Amino acid sequence: MRAWLMNSYEGEDKLQMGEVPDPEPAPGEALLRIRFAGLNPADAFLSRGMYPANPPLPHVLGRDGVGEVLAVGSNVKNVRAGDIVGVLRCDVGVSTWGTLAEKTVAPAASLAPVPDGWSIEEMAGAPLAFLTAWQALTQWNDPPAPERAGSVLLVTGASGGVGIAAILLGKSMGLTVVGLSRSTEKGARLKELGADFVFDPADPNLRKSVLAAISPRKVDLAVDNIGGTLFPEVIAMLGYGGRISVVGRSAGAVPEFNTGTLFFRRNRIGGVAVSDYSPEAAQTAWREILRRLDEASKRPVVDQVFPFEQAKEAFRRLAHGPLGKVLVRVAG
Ligand SMILES: NC(=O)c1ccc[n+]([C@@H]2O[C@H](COP(=O)([O-])OP(=O)(O)OC[C@H]3O[C@@H](n4cnc5c(N)ncnc54)[C@H](OP(=O)(O)O)[C@@H]3O)[C@@H](O)[C@H]2O)c1
Repeated sequence: MRAWLMNSYEGEDKLQMGEVPDPEPAPGEALLRIRFAGLNPADAFLSRGMYPANPPLPHVLGRDGVGEVLAVGSNVKNVRAGDIVGVLRCDVGVSTWGTLAEKTVAPAASLAPVPDGWSIEEMAGAPLAFLTAWQALTQWNDPPAPERAGSVLLVTGASGGVGIAAILLGKSMGLTVVGLSRSTEKGARLKELGADFVFDPADPNLRKSVLAAISPRKVDLAVDNIGGTLFPEVIAMLGYGGRISVVGRSAGAVPEFNTGTLFFRRNRIGGVAVSDYSPEAAQTAWREILRRLDEASKRPVVDQVFPFEQAKEAFRRLAHGPLGKVLVRVAG
């Protein structure tokens, strides 16, 4: 089969298309013929040695994807040959070969059908981003719960995969959602998707503008995908008891900030790790995500689909800042 091979830790630009033997499903696994792979920044980070996992080389990237089940190993009851399934967060693309290949094997416990009414493209890019956003929104299980109508949710990097998922799920919880995007065009689309307000993170009056929009409230929960110089600003917009779920740091290192701003208002900062989901927990969270999207008649957003041969262009699009998910059409 053909696969995009990672032969070094020098970055996604050094991936090479190669021929490798077809994988075979072990007990508990399914062999998939991949139709679409969904890209995530974590794939690029892994290829640059900037990720906790360091799989042996060659490696195949790709944590999200949809494919047809070709065969199953022993002890697999939940899927069978011919099913079209998506991969929920697991070791695929991390410690085992991923979806940027014509075929891959995945644990059957981490497979889920394409939801009714969704295209297979929508399913291909959704799981990792939605499971991450779900954890970011629900990890604070002591009062004040984020799921309280009228509470304010701030989402940075709002046009990305996790950002859009946080907006859709936040609205399903009755939250007032403020998104930050550097692009006016993407900002308009985020409002169509449900964001109540969208601001440019580079606006020198950002804090004033956000607080005026949500007055008399302040931010109850922030989902931060960005880090960088914006992070102290996000802290400054929190109300008493406000929290930040730290998802990513697309904008790099966070400068020094005064920790006093945390203790005066009992603010909390907590990391999100999508890798923490067990297969069972991911399936449970995924069902709840689907129920909420279905109730709101919302579906994942696909930014652009690239041919298999153009996977490197797809990574460039991801780095540039997409609106939703960037996909690679592997077959079909
Ligand atoms: N902790 C976890 O378990 C976990 C799981 C998934 C993802 N992540 C991390 O979370 C982050 C977001 O993931 P994603 O899938 O949503 O990424 P994404 O689809 O690439 O979107 C990120 C968005 O952030 C904005 N952005 C990018 N670079 C920026 C910069 N330098 N300054 C300001 N804004 C910038 C862009 O929006 P605009 O162009 O609209 O501003 C972009 O659309 C990534 O760092 C990823 O690695 C972590």
